[in-house]
Amino acid sequence: MSVKITYSKQAISKFSINLVLFCNDKFNISSLKKYLTISEHSYISDLLKSNDLKKNLLVFEVNSKKRIIIISVKNDLKSSDIENLGAEFYGKVNYGKNSEYILNSDSVVGKNENFIGHFLHGFKLKSYEFKKYKTKKDTRVITLNISGSKNKPSSQNQLKFKALEEGTFYARDLVSEPGNVLHPDEYAKRLNSLRKDGLKINIYDQKKLKKLGMNALLGVGMGSIRGSYLVTMEWNGAKNKSRPLAFVGKGVTFDTGGYSLKPARFMEDMTYDMAGSAAVVGLMKSLALRKAKINAVGVVGLVENMVSGVAQRPGDIVKSYSGKTIEVLNTDAEGRLVLADALSFTEKKYKPKFIIDLATLTGAIIVSLGSEYAGLFSNDDKLSKQIIKAGEKVEEKLWRMPLHKNYDKLMNSKNADVQNINYVGGAGSTTAAQFLQRFILNKTPWAHLDIAGMAFSKYGGALNSRGATGFGVRLLNQLIEENYE
Ligand code: BES
Ligand code: MN
Ligand code: ZN
Repeated sequence: MSVKITYSKQAISKFSINLVLFCNDKFNISSLKKYLTISEHSYISDLLKSNDLKKNLLVFEVNSKKRIIIISVKNDLKSSDIENLGAEFYGKVNYGKNSEYILNSDSVVGKNENFIGHFLHGFKLKSYEFKKYKTKKDTRVITLNISGSKNKPSSQNQLKFKALEEGTFYARDLVSEPGNVLHPDEYAKRLNSLRKDGLKINIYDQKKLKKLGMNALLGVGMGSIRGSYLVTMEWNGAKNKSRPLAFVGKGVTFDTGGYSLKPARFMEDMTYDMAGSAAVVGLMKSLALRKAKINAVGVVGLVENMVSGVAQRPGDIVKSYSGKTIEVLNTDAEGRLVLADALSFTEKKYKPKFIIDLATLTGAIIVSLGSEYAGLFSNDDKLSKQIIKAGEKVEEKLWRMPLHKNYDKLMNSKNADVQNINYVGGAGSTTAAQFLQRFILNKTPWAHLDIAGMAFSKYGGALNSRGATGFGVRLLNQLIEENYE
């Protein structure tokens, strides 16, 4: 089901067409009289007497051609509550054939001045589905006409929400693509096409990476017949040449584990092991589409972790871009190898205000936090607070986890400067973060978001149906809007 939203000034309502109206949280519909016929009003009033008024949303089939949906709104709803309401509304109308609704914006109540904007944002986000590989096409459309003279989102707000939706959907599309389609070559090609949105794209292929000395990243891709890449996406929206905000993403297009092979069950999930990079890409696209007044750079490492006669072996030692040597004790701890080079490169080349990396890095973070919170690891209290606060606003929640020099020690290697996994001491998500921190060389404020439990939803969430969530796009956009723009 796809959705189409249109706007008209007039509050046309007394026709035989489905209607959406808002009222206060006690379902007092006296204020709605002017939008209803006398018989509709008395019919609904009667039914309301026997209805469960604890619901937010009630559907009335007033005749065979017309349904009226009444949505009760508490006075002090947060933006995210309103988005959830929009998503819940989608659940009510997502059935049957084509349908058309008039949403009466004049009837909106409550304090939030951008109620309709948030409501439609939730509605749109929830409506996303990945149906590219279904040969039977779903051509059904829900048309929603926003009519009335009051409470319309400004065109600037409409543009912002649209940019966020497109960025989120782009990220979801990338995550949803299977490993045979979205391998590193194809991924790099798609990123190249983002030039059309005004991003400056730079693609470092294997040859260039070799020259730069990114052997940690290259080692992971050795077993693949596809190339390995580092791609940078620059958005220069500030008038001055101020230092950019930097976002780095893990883009392992498929993670078999390599010679430290994963068990068969759930290996197929590893097609979403590039979700960190997809969030970075989606964010950069959103920033460009809404012409954000900041400088930002997105950096993603694109590799495929496979087994073959030339794949990396457990015990291999590689020299990273930073100059530090790494003992690869486990080829399945590959994301940190990719990020190690991407992080040092980003810090050195861009001298950013901060670096935030996103990665589906450890299964251990799912043990700790499940699918409710992403793990946050950081060397900077201020940045951490900003990220957590932004997350609360858009309901992409973060829980701060510890870093400590004693965890760091667990990553010391007998044969090299650092090893990529600790077999004693536990704390798998923290030791992964400690590993990453060794590649932040100039004390740049840095935060690592382990999104292994958040990138993909088996059952669907408030603002997404089953599948890729696009976690991170709206979070980081909110962070930027609130603190850096
Ligand atoms: N991509 C995985 C982490 C992961 C697991 C993401 C489950 C999403 C769901 C990562 O590359 C990995 O394999 N991590 C290992 C690390 C271990 C070898 C230290 C893990 O978590 O088991
Ligand atoms: Mn792995
Ligand atoms: Zn992985």
